[in-house]
Amino acid sequence: MAGPTPVEASAPGKVILLGEHAVVYGEPSLSFAINRRLRVAAEPGSPSTTVNGDPLDAHRHAYMHQAIQHVASRSAFRLRTESELPSASGIGSSAALSVATVAALLRLLEGKPPLAPRVAQLAFETEFLTQGAASPNDTTVSTAGGGVLLAPSPEPGLELLWRLDRNERTWMAHRVVLPPLPLVVAHSGQRSRTADQVAKVRRFVERDPSARDLLREIGTLTREGVQRLRQNDWVGLGALMDRNHECLHALGVDTPQLERLARAARGVGGTYGAKLTGAGGGGSLIVLAEDPRRVRAVLEAHGAQAFVAEATPRGLEVTA
Ligand code: PMV
Repeated sequence: MAGPTPVEASAPGKVILLGEHAVVYGEPSLSFAINRRLRVAAEPGSPSTTVNGDPLDAHRHAYMHQAIQHVASRSAFRLRTESELPSASGIGSSAALSVATVAALLRLLEGKPPLAPRVAQLAFETEFLTQGAASPNDTTVSTAGGGVLLAPSPEPGLELLWRLDRNERTWMAHRVVLPPLPLVVAHSGQRSRTADQVAKVRRFVERDPSARDLLREIGTLTREGVQRLRQNDWVGLGALMDRNHECLHALGVDTPQLERLARAARGVGGTYGAKLTGAGGGGSLIVLAEDPRRVRAVLEAHGAQAFVAEATPRGLEVTA
């Protein structure tokens, strides 16, 4: 143990612009970190680990419990969390928690800040083991900050950040330079567990060959989305978001509440496109719009909690 001083790690939430669910099956995904963070403070604890003063509970603190099992199973810690990210709402709170916890534990145990690719891999494994299935999308974006394209092989013209592996699959994380995006995030008010939605899609894939076609189509439109983003082509990007939403609807992860919000958003003049973001089954909708403030007001009038998303280049930050 390096010493008694508490260390702190913080990591941002994320928005998936295109590609959720398909990325679990090796298709690309395009995401960016948002300016809302989660912080974990850690110090040595005795005799057993506590979280915000309560004993660590494997069910209630599932991600932190898994992170400790994975990187520091023999030690006890006093952990504190502080979050600007609502949980189970599709904006990456569990990934930010996994990233910040893994980084804080490593910092404490090793006496120096851990390297980002290592945290990204270990936080991915933490999410995977907690949920039973996951892609490294959310944990990678939360570690790297900024815009990220995750793809199964190197993408020409994009800077390669690092690679991640699990079982037979490999994902390459690439940096995508982001223009300021006029984007609204609206929470439907319905919470949803990522693991349940991932399992739902898996059952569909196993039962119906057309599911694979939908996943491949999502992959194709995600790659096209990178080009639209580079050209600041909001009309083109919005059309891709609309189509991605239809594919997610066909995969069974849309809800009547999200549909209602999407219809309301598309009814506002100057809206380019709207789609659910994250696992679905509830959670959040994103809307690309000429006038994001107006869209936010309309969605709030429909009962959603909405905010204009600000992208951030700040990824994982750890006490020096
Ligand atoms: O809803 P979130 O923030 O947990 O995002 C899940 C994204 C999925 O593609 C559905 C799952 C994954 O692990 O990539």
